[in-house]
Amino acid sequence: MNYSITRRPRRNRQSAAMRALAQETTVSVNDLIFPMFIVEGTGVRSEVKSMPGIYRYSLDTLLEELKEVTDLGIQCIDLFPNYSEDKKDRFATESYRDGTLYLDALKKVKDTFPELALMTDVAMDPYSSDGHDGLVENGQIVNDATLEILAKMAIAQARAGADIIGPSDMMDGRVGYIRQALDAEGFTNVSIMSYSAKYASAFYGPFRDALDSAPRFGDKKTYQMNPANVREALIEAQLDYNEGADFLMVKPALAYLDVIKTLDQNFDLPIAAYNVSGEYAMVKAAAQNGWLDGTRAMLEMLLSIRRAGAKVILTYFAKEFAQLHA
Ligand code: PBG
Repeated sequence: MNYSITRRPRRNRQSAAMRALAQETTVSVNDLIFPMFIVEGTGVRSEVKSMPGIYRYSLDTLLEELKEVTDLGIQCIDLFPNYSEDKKDRFATESYRDGTLYLDALKKVKDTFPELALMTDVAMDPYSSDGHDGLVENGQIVNDATLEILAKMAIAQARAGADIIGPSDMMDGRVGYIRQALDAEGFTNVSIMSYSAKYASAFYGPFRDALDSAPRFGDKKTYQMNPANVREALIEAQLDYNEGADFLMVKPALAYLDVIKTLDQNFDLPIAAYNVSGEYAMVKAAAQNGWLDGTRAMLEMLLSIRRAGAKVILTYFAKEFAQLHA
């Protein structure tokens, strides 16, 4: 039969050079934020069991690691603290007291690496004896009383040198409250990357191992979003936009690519996505079993998050990605 095919998409795939020309999306180290964990002590470098290749560092080893990380071209890290039980209380007072592990570490990191964009986490869970992101009263997570604590925490972190404040708590009104509190203290240049659409997800499991921060009762469903909802993500994002957020984040990333796309299509702010601990753990576990090629899976995942519309990706793969591209 004399059938001629006019349109042959395979022409643009025939060589590496042609594929590179036709490539629509890329991932660069500049897009990545590396989440890291700090713990008390010296000389500590303890691997998170459920996150192979990810460690809790004491301040001294963290600084060594940061030398490597910044030499690889990573320009932004998000630091999370691991506190022992005896430091936790109902009011998360350790989160804003002077001279704490976390606040001292932020200062030291900022002094040593002034060029690094330093992101911090604002939520009560690492400091809370209840393991919740907000204040617990009679078994309920109370919203407005939590805001005051979050604002104190944010100010303390800004004072310690934070460039980006990351409220991950999902209380109503917190972005505006924190923005006003920061501005009142003169921190008008400190940015807010809001966890706008943060879902009540099973994929945070390994992170809670890393911080020993699992809720002591119940779950986080009265503040984190229902995984079934996307319209609600628009409401959350609109509020954060109106309240002064500088970045809007979706978390987790992979099961929520449609949410990333929806926010990207509706807001002009840069969209961030958190490629969370459970997403990292799945790839690592499968790769260790020889069930898939971990490096290729990583690259494909990061690309998919960028393709969906995220400008910024918080990912535990950041260092590995940077090493691959060094
Ligand atoms: C808590 C917080 C969580 C993560 C970041 N900040 C866990 C939670 O909400 O329970 C999860 C990050 C990850 O899983 O990688 N405020």
